[in-house]
Amino acid sequence: MKEKLQLIKSEALSAIAADNADLEQIRIKYLGKKGELTAVLRGMGALSPEERPIVGQIANEVRAQIEEAIAERSALLKQLELEKKLAEEKIDVTMPAAEMKVGMLHPLTKVQRTIEEIFIGMGFSIAEGPEVELDYYNFQALNIPENHPARDTQDTFYITDNILLRSQTSPVQVRTMEKQKPPIRVISPGRVYRSDAVDATHSPLFHQVEGLVVDKGVTMGDLKGMLETFAKTLFGENTRLRFRPHHFPFTEPSAEVDVSCFVCGGEGCRVCKNEGWIEILGAGMVHPFVLSNCGIDPEEYSGFAFGMGVERIAMKYYGIDDMRHLYENDVRFLEQF
Ligand code: PHE
Repeated sequence: MKEKLQLIKSEALSAIAADNADLEQIRIKYLGKKGELTAVLRGMGALSPEERPIVGQIANEVRAQIEEAIAERSALLKQLELEKKLAEEKIDVTMPAAEMKVGMLHPLTKVQRTIEEIFIGMGFSIAEGPEVELDYYNFQALNIPENHPARDTQDTFYITDNILLRSQTSPVQVRTMEKQKPPIRVISPGRVYRSDAVDATHSPLFHQVEGLVVDKGVTMGDLKGMLETFAKTLFGENTRLRFRPHHFPFTEPSAEVDVSCFVCGGEGCRVCKNEGWIEILGAGMVHPFVLSNCGIDPEEYSGFAFGMGVERIAMKYYGIDDMRHLYENDVRFLEQF
């Protein structure tokens, strides 16, 4: 029996030490209820009373040795497995990082900021005014009295008889001249609203940049020079300007201003609709009534003003053929700028 126990022990220990040892199977085979060691212990009844404790002790030692060997081997295997896992999952810090999507400026914001920078470079500062405006600032102070036909061209969102969503940035001219005495050199970018139906070239909300210069001895020549610098900086050195006589109640004389097409240079193409010219803004010398409405003496001071549509310029600049793209916030469109 003792030999049998020694045999079980050496078999079990070599099974435990083998590669790919299945420790749980080994435990069941030798130590389990129907295991080999248990079988030996069961047979102990056949032994003499003197032998029984001796064999019992050996059996217990064998059991203890097998258990210990299993425990050690099991700990070792776990350790090896952990090391393997750590080696496999090691982070390679030299690997390129996963690409992260960064946001970008909206094309309208980009164009507006470009316009701002050009004028800031010419000594302008930025003025702001409310989008919910009084009739007085949007119309009356700009020499557009009640029932004046010029109101009809700006289908306006009224909030009360007296309060409206501004239909142009020109009211900021008045607000600026009320609080600031000449010399004045400001631009005022912002949203304006007109009750227009949405189509490829119209939106009830759009953006303008207003400009205003008031000082002693300001002339139409100054207006032309500044707008020329602006247009050449934005559209390229070869850009030419064309002033067409026009009427705005708050400027006199007034003009609509075109730039030579920056795509074809004036030959005629799809962008300028074969005209060679692209209209970009309205401008003129500040009307004496407007100056005196703001407490500035038109005998002493003169000024010019201009207003341009940001959408129009952005669309021409980037070759966008439908204004609705600018508001639909389709990332596939916006990503291109
Ligand atoms: N406010 C005018 C418009 O919206 C543009 C303009 C501004 C014209 C300043 C002259 C001077 O059409």
